[in-house]
Amino acid sequence: TVLILDFGSQYSHLITRRLREINVYAEMLPCTQKIADLTWKPKAIIFSGGPYSVYAEGAPHADPAVFDLGVPILGICYGLQEIAWQRGKNVSAGDKREYGNSTLHIERHTDKAPHVDALFDGVEDDTNVWMSHGDKLSAAPPGFITIASSPNAPWAGLAHEEIPLYGIQFHPEVTHTPFGSKILENFAVKIAKCQQNWTMEEFISKEIKRIQTIVGPDSHVIGAVSGGVDSTVAAKLMHEAIGSRFHAILVDNGVMRLNECEQVLETLNKHLGINLTVVDASDEFLEKLAGVEDPEKKRKIIGNTFIHVFQREAEKLTAGHGKDIDYLLQGTLYPDVIESISFKGPSQTIKTHHNVGGLLENMRLKLIEPLRELFKDEVRKLGTLMGIPEDLVWRHPFPGPGIAIRILGEVTREQVDIARRADHIFIEEIKKAGIYREISQAFAALLPIRAVGVMGDQRKYDQIIALRAVTTTDFMTADWYDFDSKFLKHVSNRIVNEVDGVCRVLYDVSQKPPGTIEFL
Ligand code: XMP
Repeated sequence: TVLILDFGSQYSHLITRRLREINVYAEMLPCTQKIADLTWKPKAIIFSGGPYSVYAEGAPHADPAVFDLGVPILGICYGLQEIAWQRGKNVSAGDKREYGNSTLHIERHTDKAPHVDALFDGVEDDTNVWMSHGDKLSAAPPGFITIASSPNAPWAGLAHEEIPLYGIQFHPEVTHTPFGSKILENFAVKIAKCQQNWTMEEFISKEIKRIQTIVGPDSHVIGAVSGGVDSTVAAKLMHEAIGSRFHAILVDNGVMRLNECEQVLETLNKHLGINLTVVDASDEFLEKLAGVEDPEKKRKIIGNTFIHVFQREAEKLTAGHGKDIDYLLQGTLYPDVIESISFKGPSQTIKTHHNVGGLLENMRLKLIEPLRELFKDEVRKLGTLMGIPEDLVWRHPFPGPGIAIRILGEVTREQVDIARRADHIFIEEIKKAGIYREISQAFAALLPIRAVGVMGDQRKYDQIIALRAVTTTDFMTADWYDFDSKFLKHVSNRIVNEVDGVCRVLYDVSQKPPGTIEFL
């Protein structure tokens, strides 16, 4: 295992990802981790980048004991400066900042110990790298020699002459550094001799064993499923581990998509064999949503009602089989975990992402999160390997508050029905056109205003559907999808003809920012 000490760079988690891509297992911990408290011995250590200056008061520093472990260490950006600072304090503010693309020139030292050149093995002598730094070294620290330079950083790469200690000023973990993965592979595999045995199959069997050990032979686990890929994959893993002692609950909140509950029941229960209870609480949710237009209020009502209904069902289950349910399953992914463990400076605030906090406390449940080490695409890979249907594995994200935040006015059964049916037609046509996977998220929203239309000989005063389809990699920024006009014409015709109460269809051409993906 490679230990990544996180100094707060926005790219830190990408180091983990790049290493996993070459099948090397890595774990990230905050840079303040005390080495004496580690329960395992890393084979290599990487110091990430970070937004600070090493010489500034209050700047984060690694436990000096890392240098006593005798394992290879690679410092990236702030990490390089941290190594230089700990081993000689040769860091100062640079006169020129360097951000973005730069050219790296590699200096080879065939006369030195082989580990010196090993980091850049197979990397071109002059290559593009991605830089992002203001500080630079004023000299190489004692014992180190230059292995690479850039126009603004004479010490863009350093290696210790005797021991495998390295620093690089650029970011190998970003895709803008073409040889970045090669450099990380050289470090982890060639230099540190880490095994490349991290595979998804290995993950499945290890995780199943881990769950069985935690849960033990008698305890029961409950978890909510939504029909999305994360909760389904988590449920499938749990089912493989403990069979019918896992109880999945699907709460029908009245604002799911057309026929969604039936489909989830079909897939999870009939196809995957998961012990699933569908609870129709749609009346309860819709009653509470009556008269509410404010989006944040809708979210709160749905969140609170969900907790209430889920808890009631869980208590019924407990009473039903007379055994205690001890664990709550959550499909939390790595990006959320990173958000809560990554180093955020001296005033570290830990954000909790679990909207189930109340459940954990009220029912004295312990949390179990089998996907906490995985990125979304890894979860999809895992889902496919575990026999989850392609349709579900590649499903677009769907927000917890569902169609309620796609109805811009009051949420009533009639309004849900209109929004649902329009959405169904849009998605069906997207799938038929074979472009579902090109689009990151698509849906229909229902506007709370009316416009005039003529249908047959009759004038109508009906509602408006807005279609939204975006492409994005991280959902932080997004662009609208450029449909063929024939496609839009066809979808629009179908919606006005088939969905009563709609006389016009608009297509949203706003980018994010400023327009968020959802309308509310
Ligand atoms: P926005 O609208 O902020 O959406 O651009 C970004 C992503 O987050 C989803 N989203 C939500 N998901 N509960 C959720 O579970 C919510 O309240 C919520 N609001 C937005 C949205 O669908 C998109 O994928």
